[in-house]
Amino acid sequence: MDNQVMPREQLGVCAEGNLHAVYLMFNANEGVEQSLRASLASVAQYLYDLTDQYADSAFNGFVAVGANYWDSLFGQGRPSQLKPFPAMHEGNREAPALEYDLFVHLRCDRLDILHLVANEVNQMLDELVELVDEERGFRFMDNRDLTGFVDGTENPRGRHRQDVALVGDEDPAFRGGAYVHVQKFAHNLSKWHRLPVKKQEDIIGRTKVDNIEYESADKPLTSHIKRVNLKDEQGNSMEILRQSMPYGSVKEQGLMFISVCRTPSHFEKMLHSMVHGDGEGNHDHLMHFTRALTGSSFFAPSLDYLLQGQD
Ligand code: HEM
Repeated sequence: MDNQVMPREQLGVCAEGNLHAVYLMFNANEGVEQSLRASLASVAQYLYDLTDQYADSAFNGFVAVGANYWDSLFGQGRPSQLKPFPAMHEGNREAPALEYDLFVHLRCDRLDILHLVANEVNQMLDELVELVDEERGFRFMDNRDLTGFVDGTENPRGRHRQDVALVGDEDPAFRGGAYVHVQKFAHNLSKWHRLPVKKQEDIIGRTKVDNIEYESADKPLTSHIKRVNLKDEQGNSMEILRQSMPYGSVKEQGLMFISVCRTPSHFEKMLHSMVHGDGEGNHDHLMHFTRALTGSSFFAPSLDYLLQGQD
């Protein structure tokens, strides 16, 4: 890929992990598209600039546009693979769709800065949108999910994150953008904690305390990593970049699962493998302990796309 002409990506898409996150889901008011295009460009530029200003606290963010709202906002020209969330269910395993028009993803190692920025973003979009959901993500222990297992170990590293997450020459008008899927998973932690640790480890496919991957032959077909570690027809790993974090309160808590990728198909195939399984009755047993409350599909365009899109 020729980096010289690569549009500037929104810096939150591939950013390394943080201590805190704020997730804002908006729906747009009727007939505001022209003003909203301009305001979204301003928000994206503002987040980009803050990344330098608050570099010490590793601030980053991005804005993404919902699959069902894209055509209203941008009219002509649509990312070639953008489609609604692939809702699925089998037995009592549900992956429902709940779409939003806009997603603002903010992360930082200081919660006070995030709080200020979230309010500012909300103000910048005032009168154009309605804030319909808001969650705060946090780092739990040493990057663990609330199940107690380290999450993110096998994520792409370094510059490979860009290769996995950002659209390239396959869709020139949308280079530097990313397909984004979000699922808010509420865990049933009392059920989970009743399981002996060995059973929990069999469900994940890694050890709990030291986070060691099971030998291939020892991984149950129903373990999470067995179900999501997929290869394409050429034998290449299908990768996604996960930007998930734990979220919630005592009342409701779990994982805000976020996938960013240059194609939506990797996420879809993984989710299919979790919910429907391998066709031989082996689905992901993690699904017995958590419930997806939402499922939303977005595209996070490059910063330059958003800046050009304002009239
Ligand atoms: C790996 C937790 C949902 C895709 C993992 C790992 C944990 C975990 C603990 C092992 C460590 C690591 O490599 O990160 C969870 C939890 C989920 C969830 C608690 C929801 C409640 C999903 C979903 C997908 C997914 C919905 C995709 C559709 C992956 C992938 C890996 C992974 C690709 C790396 C597998 C490998 O190559 O070893 N997850 N996950 N996860 N998860 Fe999830």
